[in-house]
Amino acid sequence: MKTNNSILFILLFILLKGNAQDLNSTLYLMPWPKEIKETSSKFNIDRNISISISGNNQDRVHNASINFLRRLSNRTGIFLNQGFPLVDNAAANIKIIFDKNADLSIEDDESYTLNVYQNNILLNAITDIGAIRGLETLLQLTNFNENGYYFEGVSIKDSPRFVWRGLMIDVARHFQPIEVLKRNLDAMASVKMNVFHWHLTDDQGFRVESKIYPKLHKIGGDGLYYTQEQIKDIVNYASNLGIRVIPEFDVPGHATAILAAYPEFGSVDGAKYSVERNSGVFDPTLNPIKDETYTFLENLFSEMAPLFPDEYFHIGGDENEGKHWNENEDIQVFKKEHGLKTNHDLQTYFNIKLERILNKLGKKLMGWDEIMTPNMPTTAVIHSWRGEKEGFPKGGTLIDATKNGYSTVLSAGFYIDRMLSVEHHYTSEPIGDVKLTKEERARILGGEATMWSELVTPFTIDSRIWPRTAAIAERLWSKKEVNNIENMKYRLKEVSFRLEELGMTHIKNSDVILRGMTNNQDISSLKILRNICEPLKIYSRNKGGTEYQTYSPFTLFADACINDAEDAVMFNTEVIKYLNAPNKKSLDILLSHLNIWNKNHNAFSQIKDNPNVKILEELSKNLSEVSQILIPTFSNKKISRDTFTSLQENIKILSKPFSDTELAILNSLNKLVEYSKTNYLVN
Ligand code: ACM
Repeated sequence: MKTNNSILFILLFILLKGNAQDLNSTLYLMPWPKEIKETSSKFNIDRNISISISGNNQDRVHNASINFLRRLSNRTGIFLNQGFPLVDNAAANIKIIFDKNADLSIEDDESYTLNVYQNNILLNAITDIGAIRGLETLLQLTNFNENGYYFEGVSIKDSPRFVWRGLMIDVARHFQPIEVLKRNLDAMASVKMNVFHWHLTDDQGFRVESKIYPKLHKIGGDGLYYTQEQIKDIVNYASNLGIRVIPEFDVPGHATAILAAYPEFGSVDGAKYSVERNSGVFDPTLNPIKDETYTFLENLFSEMAPLFPDEYFHIGGDENEGKHWNENEDIQVFKKEHGLKTNHDLQTYFNIKLERILNKLGKKLMGWDEIMTPNMPTTAVIHSWRGEKEGFPKGGTLIDATKNGYSTVLSAGFYIDRMLSVEHHYTSEPIGDVKLTKEERARILGGEATMWSELVTPFTIDSRIWPRTAAIAERLWSKKEVNNIENMKYRLKEVSFRLEELGMTHIKNSDVILRGMTNNQDISSLKILRNICEPLKIYSRNKGGTEYQTYSPFTLFADACINDAEDAVMFNTEVIKYLNAPNKKSLDILLSHLNIWNKNHNAFSQIKDNPNVKILEELSKNLSEVSQILIPTFSNKKISRDTFTSLQENIKILSKPFSDTELAILNSLNKLVEYSKTNYLVN
C-alpha cells in the first residue's frame, strides 16, 4: 500500500510538473501553451459559428474578432451567417469574456484560458489583450477531416514566460513602407509577440518626419520617411493587436544621416557629411560637448515623444568607436577637465544627459549594451546584443547587466539577419542554467529578434523574418522545457504556410526572383538549386560592407535562397542516418536526391543565356557530375582511383560561393566522399 502511494505520488508529480509538452501531439500551436489538455470534444465549424464579447471597451477584441471571422471563413471557405460579433451574448457559440483593458505596458496581463467543447467555446481573460492572444490560439486549432472543418477539443491555460517578446525592424538601411510594417505586425500578433522595436535612424537614413528639423527627413531620409500621421497610424494599428511600439533614435554614433542634415552637431568642425550608402560602422558622431547638441536632441525628442506613447525610448548607443572624438582637440580638453578618462566615460556623460531629457518627457531610456558602464544609472534598460561569440549565454552581456541591477532585453542569439538556422535561434535560451535571485529574474524582461536591413528590401524582408521569428516567439513565450527541435520544426512548417495565408510574402516571392533572373523562362531547375543553397552567413555576404550599396539590386539568386534550405535539410539528415547505420531506406532517399541533381543540369542548360543564371553554371554542372559519380559508387559499392580524383576536384569547385550563396549539402557530400574512399575505393 505504501509503495503504491509512492508510485501514485511520483506519477502525480510528473503530471503536475510536467514534461512541458506532449511530443505526440499533432497540434500546430506556436507558441506552445503553458498548460494544455487535449480532449475528444471537437467543435464543428459551420455557417452558424458566432462570437459574443463581454468586457469593457471592446474595441481591440471587437477588431480581433472580425479579423478572426474573416480568417476563419477564408481558411475554410465557409460562408458564415454572422460576419461580426453578436450583440446578443446568449446566442453566440464562441463566448469571449475579459475584465479590463490593458494599458499596453510591460505590466499587462496577457493570460487567458480557452476551452473548446463540442457545442461551445469559452475564452476567458483578465485583459482584452489576453483575449486576443487566445483568439490566435483558437485559430491555430483549426483542422479538417472528411466531414469538414473543426476546432480541436482542448482545455488551455496560457500565459507568457517573458513580458517582452519583440521584433526589431531596421527601416534606415532600407526603408520599409507602411504596408510591410502592418503585415509584419499581423504576423507578430499571430505568434503572440508584443513589442515592435522601430529602428528609425542610422547612418543610411533618418525616417521620421520632423516639423522642427525638416532637413532630417528631407536630406537625412532622402525623402523616404514616415509622416507623423503614418507613425500614429502604425502605433494605433499595433495597439489594436496588443503590440507596443518602441522607437529607436540611434545616437551619438550611427548618426551620419542626422549630420548630413545638420552638420553643426557633429564632432568635426566644418565637415560636410553625406548620407551613407554602404554598410558597416562609420565615424560621424554627435558632438557631446556642445550645448547645442543637447538642445537639438531635447527639441527632437520632445517632438517625437508624443508620437510614441510607450514608456520606453531607445537611444541606440552602439558601436561608437570614438574616432572623431579622438580627433577633436576641444573634446579631448573637455574630457580632461571633466575627469572623463575614456570615450566610454564621455558617452556615459552624454547618455546621462539624454536620460534626464527623456525622464522629463516621462520616458525610460533604453540602449544597446555599450551604454552599460560603471557610472550608467541602473534606471537604463540594457539591450544585450554582444556576447554570442564568447559562449552563450554565460559570456553575454544579458546576465552581467541583470546582475549589475539593470532591466534587460536580449537580442544576442536572435540576429535573424545573420541567416543562421532556426535551430540556432530556438536554442538561444536566455537564462540557461544561470542561478538568479527572484529580483534578478524579474529584471530580464525578454528578447527581440533583430531584422537589420542592409541586405533586405520590402520584397525580401519577410523571407528573412519568417518563419524563424515564430520559433523565437516560442522561445520567449513558452516554458524553457518546450525545446524539442523536431517537434518545433513539425509545427513551424504549418505555421509558415499560415503566415503566408495571413499576407506574408516569404515563400512566394522567391519564385518571383527566380523568374526575374531568367526573364520568365522555366525556373524548375533553378528551384532545385535554390532548395540546396543558402545565402552566405553572418556578414560574409557583403564583405567590407561595400559589395552592396543601399541602392544595389536584391533580386539575385542569394535573395531567392533562405537559411534551412529545404532539400538540404532533408538530405543532410538522411546522410547522417545512413552513415550511422547504412540501410536501404536511407540509401534510396539519398539516391533519389542524387538522381534529381544529376539530371538537373540538363534542364538548367535549357535556360537561354542570361548573366544572372550563367554564374550558377559551374555549380549546376559540378553538382551534376558529383551526383553522377556518387550514384554508381553507392549502388555498386566501388569507385576507381581516377574517378575518385575527379570527384574530389568537382567537390573542390562546389566549396566556393556561387552568387553569394553556399551549397548547404557540401558537408554531406564531403562525408559521402570520405565514406566512399574508406569503403569503396579500388586501385
Ligand atoms: C548592433 O547590432 N549594432 C546593435
